[in-house]
Amino acid sequence: MEIIKKLISEALIARKSAYTPYSKFKVGAALLTSTEKIYSGFNIECAAYSMCNCAERTAIFRAVFDNHRKFTHIAIVGGPENQENLTDFCPPCGACRQVLREFCDPKELKIILAKNTEEYKIFTLDELLLFSFGPQYL
Ligand code: THU
Repeated sequence: MEIIKKLISEALIARKSAYTPYSKFKVGAALLTSTEKIYSGFNIECAAYSMCNCAERTAIFRAVFDNHRKFTHIAIVGGPENQENLTDFCPPCGACRQVLREFCDPKELKIILAKNTEEYKIFTLDELLLFSFGPQYL
């Protein structure tokens, strides 16, 4: 339970620095590696809109760059920039679900969607990305 709250707190901190001049929708994510290290990330937008990078993938790529290949939890928070107290859960986009799939056991990875450290829902990746394509098919 403590780790869940810690991940949510780290995601909320990361969200504050999101670079979102276009959508003004700020997302933060915090990932836990199988070695119990935390990597956070935020969304980074670009004037060429299709180059925007989601918070989840920022966190994943930071961790992978540091040689981590297996994740057990990710917390995600998001909402309009003028909202400090989030009113909605922010589910991960399809692309981020697929990238997460690469680095976890889908039945084990816990995806924590939070408004704050008290209000959250937990799904496994398997619930959010059913019958997924993964490394075992290649
Ligand atoms: N966004 C994320 O960072 N994660 C998601 O899973 C959903 C969407 C970002 C991308 C873009 O910068 C903004 O939210 C609006 O789509």
